[in-house]
Amino acid sequence: MKLPCSLCCSLWLLMLLGAGSLLLLARLQDLTETLRQQTPGVNVLVAPRSQSQTHSQQPAADGDMAPPSGPLLPVQHHTEQDVASDSTAAPSELGLQPSSLSIFSGSSDVASKPAVTKRRRKLLLKSNFATSDAPTGWGKEHQLTLARTQASRHRLLREFCAKYQPGVTEQPVSQRQVSRVYVEDQFRLLYCEVPKAGCSNWKRVLMVLGGRATSTRDIPHDVAHYGNRLRRLESYDQAGIAERLHSYTKVLFIREPFERLVSAYRDKFESPNSYYHPVFGRPIISRYRTNATRRALHTGAGVTFREFVQYLLDVRRPVGMDIHWEPVSQLCHPCLLKYDFIGTFESLEEEANFLLRRIGAPRNLTFPDFKDRNPHAERTSSSITQKYFSQLNATERQKAFDFYYMDYVMFNYSKPFKDLH
Ligand SMILES: *[C@@H]1O[C@H](CO)[C@@H](O)[C@H](O)[C@H]1NC(C)=O
Ligand SMILES: *[C@@H]1O[C@H](CO)[C@@H](O)[C@H](O)[C@H]1NC(C)=O
Ligand SMILES: *[C@@H]1O[C@H](CO)[C@@H](O)[C@H](O)[C@H]1NC(C)=O
Ligand SMILES: *[C@@H]1O[C@H](CO)[C@@H](O)[C@H](O)[C@H]1NC(C)=O
Repeated sequence: MKLPCSLCCSLWLLMLLGAGSLLLLARLQDLTETLRQQTPGVNVLVAPRSQSQTHSQQPAADGDMAPPSGPLLPVQHHTEQDVASDSTAAPSELGLQPSSLSIFSGSSDVASKPAVTKRRRKLLLKSNFATSDAPTGWGKEHQLTLARTQASRHRLLREFCAKYQPGVTEQPVSQRQVSRVYVEDQFRLLYCEVPKAGCSNWKRVLMVLGGRATSTRDIPHDVAHYGNRLRRLESYDQAGIAERLHSYTKVLFIREPFERLVSAYRDKFESPNSYYHPVFGRPIISRYRTNATRRALHTGAGVTFREFVQYLLDVRRPVGMDIHWEPVSQLCHPCLLKYDFIGTFESLEEEANFLLRRIGAPRNLTFPDFKDRNPHAERTSSSITQKYFSQLNATERQKAFDFYYMDYVMFNYSKPFKDLH
């Protein structure tokens, strides 16, 4: 059988990534040692497992992509002129005070100068802003709390990165490292897409900010993912990438890692899915289920959570990784890209709206709360997560925790089970 070209490329990529992950593993083990030494009395961690395989496709988050042999859905590119002519009202036309514009870049030219960029960050973190553009009902105290939360997340991440990835920011940023980052040029935003952490609604918001839709309500799920005409940062040249990383507001929204994992499992394996069942379900069932029925082997439907986790933790996975369960630390490179705003799914609407007001988004634009996938299924909560994890034994839970350990530490999520170490 002749290998399709994309498969050859994937094999090369896998080999490269394999080498990369060995280095990473070495580094993480180093890190583990350091952490153990630096936190006396606390039995901190085991190195996260090496991620020796990465699925080479780049599916749209929360979307069901075409089978690997078929073409990926086209990404529509357009020129910067297109973007400019599409524009909504610039922040200055929306009656915001200049003082609030200087906090985040807004649309002013000066924002791209280094000094101003630094100031912008400081101002954000110091919570030095007026309340005039707060959503109604938000007191100054509330905004201060949100700003302090930002400041403490930043401090933690900065310390983490300084200790464990020193010098990372001196390396040039590659296109691959910004492949999950979406660009919104009007409001000068960069959003790193984390699937299962509100990304569909973020894409809707970016579309409205860029003038491609008047309201988030009008945007169906598939359009948000496949017809969004949003540009990814990787589509620019080196200078375009560097300029935007330097002067735009970089946004990351995260989620409790086990909850995100359960949410991904429920979404992709518990309801019919024409991509994940054949591509992931079949090899998972065939590898991890004894006495699987022919039907299960054929359809790939009915993967259990435990089988899914066995696949995730297997260093020799029968099928690669996927962005829906890839750790945020590897999707969005937080130490390298130094996000200005770190929001959480746990306070998604509140923090997203806070950010939207800070960047001078149109007042009638608030963060939507559409539940895109399986609208009738209950949202994955911490109690649902506990229920799924109770299907695993202690060793499996520990290994899953190790797998997402970086995400737990970087973003200060607490241990989801008492018996983890
Ligand atoms: C928000 O306001 C803009 C113009 O100010 C308008 O075009 C748009 O339709 C409004 N959106 C909603 C959801 O009301
Ligand atoms: C699988 O099938 C064989 C033969 O029918 C049986 O002996 C064995 O117990 C089954 N294993 C499991 C795990 O069900
Ligand atoms: C937990 O399950 C794994 C299979 O995933 C098995 O190898 C291991 O022995 C089990 N551990 C315990 C403590 O039962
Ligand atoms: C991390 O979270 C805990 C509560 O879970 C809190 O007490 C602690 O101050 C946080 N640490 C940092 C550095 O934000």
